[in-house]
Amino acid sequence: RLHGGCEVVDQIEQLATARAKEAFGAQYANVQPHSGTGANQIVITALLERGDKILSLALDQGGHYSHGMKESFTGKFFDVENYYLDKQTLLLNYDAIRASAAKARPKLIICGASAYPGTIDFKKFREIADEVGAYLLADVSHISGLIIAGAHPSPVNYAHFTTTSTYKPGGPRGGVVIMGRDRDQQIKVNGKNTALWERIQKMTFPGVQGTPYFNHIAAKAVFFKESLSDEYKAGQFKIVENAKRLASDLLDMGYDVLTGGTDNHMVLINVANLREGLTGLAAQKCLEECGIIVNRILLPYDKKKTSVTSGIRLGTPVVTKNGMGNKEMDGISGLIDAVLKGVKIIGDSEYKIDESFKEQMKNKVKELCSKFPMR
Ligand SMILES: Cc1ncc(COP(=O)(O)O)c(C=O)c1O
Repeated sequence: RLHGGCEVVDQIEQLATARAKEAFGAQYANVQPHSGTGANQIVITALLERGDKILSLALDQGGHYSHGMKESFTGKFFDVENYYLDKQTLLLNYDAIRASAAKARPKLIICGASAYPGTIDFKKFREIADEVGAYLLADVSHISGLIIAGAHPSPVNYAHFTTTSTYKPGGPRGGVVIMGRDRDQQIKVNGKNTALWERIQKMTFPGVQGTPYFNHIAAKAVFFKESLSDEYKAGQFKIVENAKRLASDLLDMGYDVLTGGTDNHMVLINVANLREGLTGLAAQKCLEECGIIVNRILLPYDKKKTSVTSGIRLGTPVVTKNGMGNKEMDGISGLIDAVLKGVKIIGDSEYKIDESFKEQMKNKVKELCSKFPMR
């Protein structure tokens, strides 16, 4: 550090780092990134020069802004090409990704998503990266809690770099960069060989960030300890079980659940296929009026614009943390169904909801939630 007087914060950072490594079964962790986006920026800045090529999942297919959206730093400074989901299954098609990589010859492939309910095969991604001589970055922000618990396969020894935001798995705002077996792999920078992990250290500070946020790092130390507990790990499996139950309930009620279910914490629904004229935006708004928070989401190959969308995205981490299980998932899917089928649709963002019906729904939501207070 450049500053003196850091003896105690050094200890805190070492503790957070050791626990993050243990949680992910990793050989290197950097707990300084201010966010998941920042962690991605650090890795990308460490590897690429201006104009180098990135291959990533398209934003409108479930990718994240920081993976190459035109307005983000990735889109501004790098040459971004995308791979796409299979049009029929809406799942990752590794043969098609391999073909895209062979054509694009990227220096970096990014996998991981903001809206993808399937399992990601990190081994296959690494094989593809190796075939074209690219680095692989796995941004597992959405599924990092599941990975820590073993409820989703880990990328740590497949991807050269794994990143995650720390609030999504249940910790504080912030990010982390993780490395497995490629920690000591050499990279040539300005004619000099450097280990990849050292490159990440340097690109964290002074490359991308300034002073670390020690309050956040202390909170990460607390969170990673929590994440090592049996209770946390069991909770992650329960999150998946609840999401599967929600998906199967909604399928039974005639909903278009993308990919026919879920392997993780997330359920994507095409509400435009439920009722003529219903949009993701209207669904989000009317559910929220009744006390149910979901968010609209652009679905793969969506015909509607980003601000309107055909889809909604449901997630089970918070309700699960509060103690809900299968029975409550049945209750929630019933409430969602009642609201989405009970409103009068007027336009893309307009609908009419009967006041007494709304009050009735709100009371049912309150009654359910009051049995499971926030934890
Ligand atoms: C895949 C993915 N990466 C990164 C992020 C961003 O994380 P943060 O908000 O910590 O920058 C998100 C958040 O939505 C995400 O879904």
